[in-house]
Amino acid sequence: ERLWLVVPAAGRGRRMGADRPKQYLTLAGRPVLAHTLARLHQAFPQAQLCLCLDPDDDRFDPAWVPFAGWRRSPGGAERADSVRQALAALADEAGDDDLVLVHDVARPCVTVADLTTLLSALREDPVGALLATPVADTVKRDDGQGRIARTEPRDGLWQAQTPQGFRYGLLRRALERAAAGGVGVTDEASAVEALGLSPRLVPGRRDNLKITHPEDLALAAHVLAAQRE
Ligand code: C5P
Repeated sequence: ERLWLVVPAAGRGRRMGADRPKQYLTLAGRPVLAHTLARLHQAFPQAQLCLCLDPDDDRFDPAWVPFAGWRRSPGGAERADSVRQALAALADEAGDDDLVLVHDVARPCVTVADLTTLLSALREDPVGALLATPVADTVKRDDGQGRIARTEPRDGLWQAQTPQGFRYGLLRRALERAAAGGVGVTDEASAVEALGLSPRLVPGRRDNLKITHPEDLALAAHVLAAQRE
């Protein structure tokens, strides 16, 4: 079966408060997007890439794409729309049993080891798999007024990362169903869960962080430097 990589990179990064979307902020001398694509290419040089980009994006440079086989797809209103539209764009080429890994452009620190572990898990799992880490902090639910309503038991709680991997047919069906039902999903797994299926949790590294807030950029630079040592 073939391997497709879908990289949603059409976000505008409002939480960053920067002058540009976070995938174009400079990390160790290169844009975040270039780092993320380089890691994916290192792990899966033969994969086919579909990159979701805002149609109005005027910063993107194809020189940052190391893949021989790649295409771009216009981003949607939300992340799930970007991924759903990318899958639709692959319909003529992708088979239902092809493997798809969806990876946020904002996670440049994912390691080749975690990427290959996840792909093996996906190959062997009838549903699909995602990288995740057990929740380390004690988790509070607020009452809407800045006070604690309750403490959520931390046992058995995980933070979902990306990549998240599924077979093409299943993932496409799950995201189409979520969109049609008006269910807002923030990752692929939740769309698949809504079909009554249970994706496999694959313990990943905690340093596969998502660049979301300005301070995350310095953290990511540190992680990349430490991983090179
Ligand atoms: O907003 P957040 O950081 O959760 O976004 C996760 C990923 O989804 C980012 O890589 C971002 O570029 C992408 N995204 C997208 N289309 C949108 C919104 C976000 O491709 N409409």
